[in-house]
Amino acid sequence: MPVRIAPSLLAADFARLAEEVGRVEPYVDLIHLDVMDGHFVPNLTFGMPVIASLRAVTGLYFDCHLMVTNPISLFAPLAAAGANLVTVHIEVHPDPTMAAERAREQGLDFGLVLDPGTPFAAVSPFVELCDLLLVMSVQPGFGGQAFIPEVLPKVEMARKFIDSVGRATDIQIDGGINPETARRAREAGADVLVAGTSIFRASDPVAAIEQLRAAADGTG
Ligand code: DX5
Ligand code: ZN
Repeated sequence: MPVRIAPSLLAADFARLAEEVGRVEPYVDLIHLDVMDGHFVPNLTFGMPVIASLRAVTGLYFDCHLMVTNPISLFAPLAAAGANLVTVHIEVHPDPTMAAERAREQGLDFGLVLDPGTPFAAVSPFVELCDLLLVMSVQPGFGGQAFIPEVLPKVEMARKFIDSVGRATDIQIDGGINPETARRAREAGADVLVAGTSIFRASDPVAAIEQLRAAADGTG
Protein backbone atom coordinates (compact mmCIF):
# COMPACT_ATOMS: atom_id res chain seq x y z
CA MET A 1 0.00 0.00 0.00
CA PRO A 2 1.46 3.40 -0.95
CA VAL A 3 2.40 5.84 1.79
CA ARG A 4 -0.35 8.26 2.86
CA ILE A 5 0.27 11.95 3.46
CA ALA A 6 -1.53 13.90 6.20
CA PRO A 7 -0.81 17.63 6.16
CA SER A 8 -0.96 19.17 9.64
CA LEU A 9 -2.99 22.37 9.58
CA LEU A 10 -0.96 23.69 12.51
CA ALA A 11 1.52 25.18 10.05
CA ALA A 12 -1.15 26.66 7.75
CA ASP A 13 -2.25 30.30 7.64
CA PHE A 14 -5.13 30.33 10.16
CA ALA A 15 -6.64 33.39 8.48
CA ARG A 16 -7.08 31.38 5.27
CA LEU A 17 -7.81 27.84 6.41
CA ALA A 18 -10.34 26.99 3.70
CA GLU A 19 -7.94 28.17 1.01
CA GLU A 20 -5.03 26.23 2.55
CA VAL A 21 -7.07 23.01 2.71
CA GLY A 22 -8.41 23.52 -0.81
CA ARG A 23 -4.91 23.93 -2.19
CA VAL A 24 -3.69 20.55 -0.89
CA GLU A 25 -6.96 18.57 -0.97
CA PRO A 26 -6.51 16.86 -4.38
CA TYR A 27 -3.00 15.66 -3.47
CA VAL A 28 -3.36 14.26 0.06
CA ASP A 29 -5.05 11.34 1.76
CA LEU A 30 -6.36 12.93 4.96
CA ILE A 31 -5.96 16.07 7.09
CA HIS A 32 -4.30 16.09 10.51
CA LEU A 33 -5.94 18.43 13.03
CA ASP A 34 -3.98 19.19 16.20
CA VAL A 35 -6.35 19.96 19.06
CA MET A 36 -4.49 21.39 22.09
CA ASP A 37 -5.91 22.58 25.41
CA GLY A 38 -3.08 24.61 26.96
CA HIS A 39 -2.95 22.03 29.77
CA PHE A 40 -1.75 18.67 28.45
CA VAL A 41 0.58 20.73 26.24
CA PRO A 42 1.53 24.39 26.74
CA ASN A 43 -0.21 25.62 23.58
CA LEU A 44 -3.71 26.28 22.30
CA THR A 45 -4.98 25.68 18.80
CA PHE A 46 -8.58 25.24 17.69
CA GLY A 47 -11.64 23.19 18.50
CA MET A 48 -15.10 22.26 17.32
CA PRO A 49 -16.20 25.53 15.65
CA VAL A 50 -13.15 25.56 13.38
CA ILE A 51 -13.42 21.84 12.61
CA ALA A 52 -17.14 22.18 11.80
CA SER A 53 -16.39 25.13 9.51
CA LEU A 54 -13.73 23.11 7.70
CA ARG A 55 -16.10 20.15 7.38
CA ALA A 56 -18.34 22.40 5.31
CA VAL A 57 -15.59 23.01 2.75
CA THR A 58 -13.93 19.60 2.34
CA GLY A 59 -14.72 15.90 2.21
CA LEU A 60 -11.24 14.90 3.43
CA TYR A 61 -10.95 12.44 6.31
CA PHE A 62 -10.35 14.41 9.54
CA ASP A 63 -7.71 12.88 11.80
CA CYS A 64 -7.95 14.71 15.14
CA HIS A 65 -4.85 14.44 17.33
CA LEU A 66 -6.08 15.24 20.82
CA MET A 67 -3.36 16.83 22.96
CA VAL A 68 -5.78 17.47 25.80
CA THR A 69 -6.18 16.32 29.40
CA ASN A 70 -9.79 15.16 28.99
CA PRO A 71 -10.15 13.78 25.47
CA ILE A 72 -13.27 11.65 26.10
CA SER A 73 -15.34 14.76 26.84
CA LEU A 74 -14.61 15.97 23.29
CA PHE A 75 -15.68 12.85 21.38
CA ALA A 76 -19.37 13.71 20.98
CA PRO A 77 -18.84 17.35 19.96
CA LEU A 78 -15.98 16.37 17.64
CA ALA A 79 -18.14 13.73 15.97
CA ALA A 80 -20.89 16.33 15.54
CA ALA A 81 -18.33 18.72 14.04
CA GLY A 82 -17.37 16.13 11.42
CA ALA A 83 -14.28 14.42 12.84
CA ASN A 84 -13.54 10.91 11.52
CA LEU A 85 -10.74 9.68 13.80
CA VAL A 86 -9.62 10.68 17.28
CA THR A 87 -6.19 9.83 18.63
CA VAL A 88 -5.65 9.84 22.39
CA HIS A 89 -2.30 9.97 24.19
CA ILE A 90 -1.54 6.80 26.14
CA GLU A 91 0.07 9.10 28.74
CA VAL A 92 -3.45 10.49 29.45
CA HIS A 93 -5.28 7.12 29.51
CA PRO A 94 -2.80 4.34 30.39
CA ASP A 95 -5.75 1.94 30.04
CA PRO A 96 -7.59 3.31 26.99
CA THR A 97 -10.26 0.59 26.82
CA MET A 98 -13.10 2.88 27.84
CA ALA A 99 -11.85 5.72 25.65
CA ALA A 100 -11.92 3.40 22.64
CA GLU A 101 -15.46 2.27 23.48
CA ARG A 102 -16.69 5.84 23.83
CA ALA A 103 -15.11 6.82 20.50
CA ARG A 104 -16.79 3.88 18.72
CA GLU A 105 -20.13 4.81 20.29
CA GLN A 106 -19.79 8.16 18.52
CA GLY A 107 -18.96 6.49 15.21
CA LEU A 108 -15.35 7.66 15.40
CA ASP A 109 -12.28 5.69 14.39
CA PHE A 110 -9.80 5.41 17.26
CA GLY A 111 -6.05 5.60 17.69
CA LEU A 112 -3.41 5.86 20.40
CA VAL A 113 -0.43 8.24 20.52
CA LEU A 114 2.99 7.69 22.07
CA ASP A 115 5.19 10.59 23.15
CA PRO A 116 8.85 10.26 22.09
CA GLY A 117 9.87 8.98 25.54
CA THR A 118 7.02 6.48 25.95
CA PRO A 119 7.93 2.86 25.11
CA PHE A 120 5.94 0.72 22.69
CA ALA A 121 5.13 -1.62 25.59
CA ALA A 122 2.71 1.04 26.92
CA VAL A 123 0.38 0.46 23.93
CA SER A 124 1.11 -3.12 22.87
CA PRO A 125 -1.76 -4.60 24.98
CA PHE A 126 -4.20 -2.19 23.30
CA VAL A 127 -3.26 -2.36 19.63
CA GLU A 128 -6.40 -4.37 18.89
CA LEU A 129 -8.46 -1.34 19.94
CA CYS A 130 -6.75 0.86 17.36
CA ASP A 131 -7.27 1.80 13.74
CA LEU A 132 -4.04 3.76 13.99
CA LEU A 133 -1.00 4.08 16.18
CA LEU A 134 0.74 7.48 16.20
CA VAL A 135 4.42 7.60 17.08
CA MET A 136 5.42 11.18 17.93
CA SER A 137 8.81 12.16 16.53
CA VAL A 138 8.87 15.49 18.39
CA GLN A 139 7.57 16.52 21.81
CA PRO A 140 3.88 17.36 21.29
CA GLY A 141 2.78 20.98 21.44
CA PHE A 142 4.50 22.87 18.65
CA GLY A 143 5.24 22.59 14.95
CA GLY A 144 8.61 23.25 13.38
CA GLN A 145 10.72 21.10 15.72
CA ALA A 146 13.55 18.78 14.68
CA PHE A 147 12.82 15.06 14.11
CA ILE A 148 13.96 12.79 16.97
CA PRO A 149 15.60 9.79 15.23
CA GLU A 150 15.62 7.76 18.46
CA VAL A 151 11.92 6.98 17.85
CA LEU A 152 12.67 4.96 14.69
CA PRO A 153 13.35 1.66 16.52
CA LYS A 154 9.92 2.10 18.15
CA VAL A 155 8.31 2.39 14.71
CA GLU A 156 10.13 -0.80 13.68
CA MET A 157 8.92 -2.54 16.82
CA ALA A 158 5.32 -1.43 16.19
CA ARG A 159 5.55 -2.60 12.55
CA LYS A 160 6.81 -6.07 13.58
CA PHE A 161 4.18 -6.41 16.29
CA ILE A 162 1.27 -5.34 14.08
CA ASP A 163 2.40 -7.61 11.25
CA SER A 164 2.92 -10.55 13.60
CA VAL A 165 -0.62 -10.31 14.98
CA GLY A 166 -1.99 -9.81 11.47
CA ARG A 167 -3.75 -6.51 12.16
CA ALA A 168 -4.44 -3.69 9.73
CA THR A 169 -3.60 -0.94 12.26
CA ASP A 170 -1.87 1.96 10.53
CA ILE A 171 1.36 3.44 11.88
CA GLN A 172 1.52 7.22 11.72
CA ILE A 173 4.50 9.42 12.46
CA ASP A 174 4.24 13.09 13.40
CA GLY A 175 6.85 15.80 13.84
CA GLY A 176 9.81 17.05 11.85
CA ILE A 177 8.83 15.15 8.69
CA ASN A 178 10.64 16.30 5.54
CA PRO A 179 11.78 14.21 2.54
CA GLU A 180 14.79 12.80 4.40
CA THR A 181 12.97 11.89 7.62
CA ALA A 182 9.98 10.67 5.58
CA ARG A 183 12.26 8.15 3.89
CA ARG A 184 13.66 6.94 7.21
CA ALA A 185 10.21 6.71 8.84
CA ARG A 186 8.84 4.79 5.85
CA GLU A 187 11.78 2.37 5.93
CA ALA A 188 11.07 1.77 9.62
CA GLY A 189 7.47 0.87 8.76
CA ALA A 190 5.32 4.03 8.94
CA ASP A 191 2.22 4.14 6.68
CA VAL A 192 0.96 7.67 7.30
CA LEU A 193 3.24 10.71 7.36
CA VAL A 194 2.08 13.88 9.13
CA ALA A 195 3.82 17.03 7.92
CA GLY A 196 3.07 20.64 8.80
CA THR A 197 6.00 22.95 8.23
CA SER A 198 7.46 21.07 5.27
CA ILE A 199 4.12 21.38 3.39
CA PHE A 200 2.43 24.62 4.41
CA ARG A 201 5.59 26.71 4.80
CA ALA A 202 6.97 25.54 1.45
CA SER A 203 6.82 27.98 -1.45
CA ASP A 204 4.95 25.26 -3.40
CA PRO A 205 2.98 22.99 -1.02
CA VAL A 206 1.86 20.67 -3.84
CA ALA A 207 5.46 20.10 -4.94
CA ALA A 208 6.39 19.53 -1.28
CA ILE A 209 3.73 16.80 -0.99
CA GLU A 210 5.03 15.08 -4.12
CA GLN A 211 8.60 15.30 -2.75
CA LEU A 212 7.48 13.57 0.44
CA ARG A 213 5.79 10.79 -1.56
CA ALA A 214 8.78 10.38 -3.82
CA ALA A 215 11.20 10.23 -0.89
CA ALA A 216 9.05 7.73 0.99
CA ASP A 217 8.03 5.43 -1.86
CA GLY A 218 10.25 6.37 -4.75
CA THR A 219 7.23 7.62 -6.69
CA GLY A 220 6.21 11.12 -7.74
C1 DX5 B 1 2.95 18.76 17.23
C2 DX5 B 1 1.88 18.29 16.30
C3 DX5 B 1 2.28 18.08 14.91
C4 DX5 B 1 2.87 19.26 14.22
C5 DX5 B 1 3.93 18.78 13.27
O1 DX5 B 1 2.47 18.67 18.53
O2 DX5 B 1 1.35 17.06 16.77
O3 DX5 B 1 1.21 17.54 14.15
O4 DX5 B 1 1.94 20.02 13.50
O5 DX5 B 1 4.52 19.88 12.72
P1 DX5 B 1 5.86 19.80 11.87
O6 DX5 B 1 5.57 18.99 10.66
O7 DX5 B 1 6.13 21.23 11.59
O8 DX5 B 1 6.90 19.17 12.77
ZN1 ZN C 1 -0.15 16.12 15.53
